[in-house]
Amino acid sequence: MTRVPVASSLPDFPWDSLADVKASARSHPDGIVDLSVGTPVDAVAPVIQEALASVAAVPGYPTTAGTVELREAAAEALARRFSLTVRPGAVLPVIGTKELIAWLPRLLGFGADDLVVIPELAYPTYEVGARLAGARVQRADGLNRLGPENAGLVYVNSPSNPTGKVLGVEHMRKVVEWARERGAIVASDECYLGLSWDAEPVSVLDDRVSGGDHTGLLAIHSLSKTSNLASYRAGFVTGDPALVSELLEVRKHAGLMVPFPIQAAMTAALTHDEHEIAQRERYRARRDVLLPAVKSAGFTVTDSEAGLYLWATRGERGRDTLAWLAERGILAAPGDFYGPRGDDHIRIALTATDERIAAAAARLTN
Ligand SMILES: Cc1ncc(COP(=O)(O)O)c(C=O)c1O
Repeated sequence: MTRVPVASSLPDFPWDSLADVKASARSHPDGIVDLSVGTPVDAVAPVIQEALASVAAVPGYPTTAGTVELREAAAEALARRFSLTVRPGAVLPVIGTKELIAWLPRLLGFGADDLVVIPELAYPTYEVGARLAGARVQRADGLNRLGPENAGLVYVNSPSNPTGKVLGVEHMRKVVEWARERGAIVASDECYLGLSWDAEPVSVLDDRVSGGDHTGLLAIHSLSKTSNLASYRAGFVTGDPALVSELLEVRKHAGLMVPFPIQAAMTAALTHDEHEIAQRERYRARRDVLLPAVKSAGFTVTDSEAGLYLWATRGERGRDTLAWLAERGILAAPGDFYGPRGDDHIRIALTATDERIAAAAARLTN
């Protein structure tokens, strides 16, 4: 047997290719404005910090399924925030949703004979997850483009990273119908569902999409952006109770459990809405400053109706735009990170402090 390092089946880690533009942006006399990675910068709400600290002395192993309180809090939050009906028993906490996405095809039993469909422009971990399972990957937004080929797993991501595009009820319903006709599972990454500006995103579990039946559907919810919990690693998956319990079984064996203090923090984050509303308004205000500045600098902003990014182009290669921005001390992400079709775009994150967003806007309009 010859060992094949898993890393050799994975793409190069894309962020490493930004070293030069990052160095250029850093040399700006007023410092870099880093709008590349969508990482939260605002403090974790006190109510969440206190919940974490309140159980810091607990020594025992946490359960993989999560506490009853956490599962109930997640189900109630989905009902309150998005009018969704899920049973607490169909909620499974994950160690940040990147972890789930990277392992989902494998955990669901997909392999070399299976096809994973991901959006044309997609969060890179969908492809990574398919490759870790040894499955084939195809980028397709319209599923009729797949022809007779049958998929095992279909990802949707509305609002999208990187484009901020929102898929309407009709589109989402068609994806579900298409998948059901072929026995495929739909994984809906709903990371940005609570961060919408000019459109009304809808969950795959919404009755208008699912017809009230969650069979074959998984909704993936991250707390990283809406509750500023990226550092805690906190998310959950819900939907089809049979699929969720299948995932639970495997994750129990694999030790994929969320630390107990994080479960307590998640419970608080899902029980209280004020911090989440305040965070959404912070991002809305930042977008209101940055969007006009980006446009006035000659960019065309595509989609970007929701979520934490502006998907923008100057009608040239995104890498050239990146260099242009870096001369102004601004770092963005190149569109090609997200798929070949993104070659002429860049992604600008709204995740910087008010002061840094104002600095970026000033540099773009001067
Ligand atoms: C579309 C999408 N899904 C999932 C994630 C992963 O989030 P986390 O692992 O922090 O839950 C991100 C993070 O940026 C994302 O943009």
